[in-house]
Amino acid sequence: MTTIDDAGEVVATNPYLAGNFAPVADEVTAFELPVIGELPKELNGRYLRNGPNPIDAVDPATHHWFMGDGMVHGVRLRDGRADWYRNRYVGSTAVSRHRGEPDIPGPNWNDNPIGPNTNVGGFAGHIWATVEAGGCPVELTDELETVGRNDFFGTLPGAFTAHPKFDPATGEMHAMVYAWAQWLDHIQYVVVGPDGRVRRTVDIPLGMTMLHDMSLTSRYAVVFDQPCTVDIDVALAGRFPFRWNPGYGNRVGLLPRDGEADDIVWVDVPIGYAFHPMNAYDTVDGKVVIDLCNYDSMFDRHVLGPFAPGVTARLERWELDPQRRTASITVVDESSNEFPRCAGSVSAATYRYGYCASPVYDLSSGWPTIKHDLETGERTVFDHGSGRAAGEPVFVARADGVAEDDGWLVTFVHDLGAGSAEFVVIDAQDFARGYVARVPLPQRVPFGFHGNWVADPSV
Ligand SMILES: [Fe+2]
Repeated sequence: MTTIDDAGEVVATNPYLAGNFAPVADEVTAFELPVIGELPKELNGRYLRNGPNPIDAVDPATHHWFMGDGMVHGVRLRDGRADWYRNRYVGSTAVSRHRGEPDIPGPNWNDNPIGPNTNVGGFAGHIWATVEAGGCPVELTDELETVGRNDFFGTLPGAFTAHPKFDPATGEMHAMVYAWAQWLDHIQYVVVGPDGRVRRTVDIPLGMTMLHDMSLTSRYAVVFDQPCTVDIDVALAGRFPFRWNPGYGNRVGLLPRDGEADDIVWVDVPIGYAFHPMNAYDTVDGKVVIDLCNYDSMFDRHVLGPFAPGVTARLERWELDPQRRTASITVVDESSNEFPRCAGSVSAATYRYGYCASPVYDLSSGWPTIKHDLETGERTVFDHGSGRAAGEPVFVARADGVAEDDGWLVTFVHDLGAGSAEFVVIDAQDFARGYVARVPLPQRVPFGFHGNWVADPSV
């Protein structure tokens, strides 16, 4: 039973060190994995997912899930086979120190001992593990070994994010980044070209909000300036530094993609906190639509955050009018929706389908996968079964597919009773079909954050 004191600190059993939040001890490599069902032969590449996995003993009184060393779990698919499963720590000062090895190469401008623990994916022909709040991206090999910290080949001024947005029209990667330990008075908008080099930055004066994600449309880069802010006293005590701060207000900034900070149009929105938008786009009449998973509050009574008792996000549609500076908000789905994704081809553009996980504190009911048809309002649920919790659903398009949802959803499913994990493939157009394929993995995969499909280069 978890006990949380009035200050919101965990004082008894720390849930982030127990059950499927607990770290795994070993880095495993397993070849020729068993497959239940049939893996699509077209799926040639790697599903990679990052998450925290503390390498050193931590203090249960203060440890927070978001603060663990990064570990990437990956499954390599080729020609209908599951060639391998691997899990590897993301290289860092702490991991090197634990192993008695020299630190990994590359800039560590905020002297952060922890490696990126939040996202992993491919860009510009390289694989990047990423984190917010100042840590440098870490480059990995195709087999998940650490190459070193990589500041986009010397072009990144000093911070990145775990939630860049990709523009399929330009091949660019856009990011809204912050580094509260170094930059007390501003954040930065960063555009990385398809060659993996930063081509543009804009400093934006802003307070010390928890800037977890951003949105992108064809006209705007979107800033979420929300009431989760750094509490310096808490930070200096070495604890998870963000706290609920409703007096801060809540607003969304629309930065014209070629504009400067003074060009931002700010729109006030109701108090709440969203970690993740699903997608965003411009309308023909000049408005901006943002679909996101929104909480009433975050790190308020429960420092546990998004997995605290009774804390879930609902899926909302925000329609912002930059002229009138107003927001019209519609609840799309009241039930738990998190880790929202859409097809990469419709990123920053009008779209129809979104996909979410549905985490709840009581794990026994399982976490289904939800598909939203945002045109008709139809909501389709893939039930993974009692005690089986599915993570972020990553959409992989069929190579010759035309329809937006013609492809697969891939993710890890955690079987809480068995203490095991599977990599699964679902037909995004046909949930009723059941699993297309399941790949039982050789060890438990702890709950983690974000991942991506990294397709093999086309030959
Ligand atoms: Fe995230």
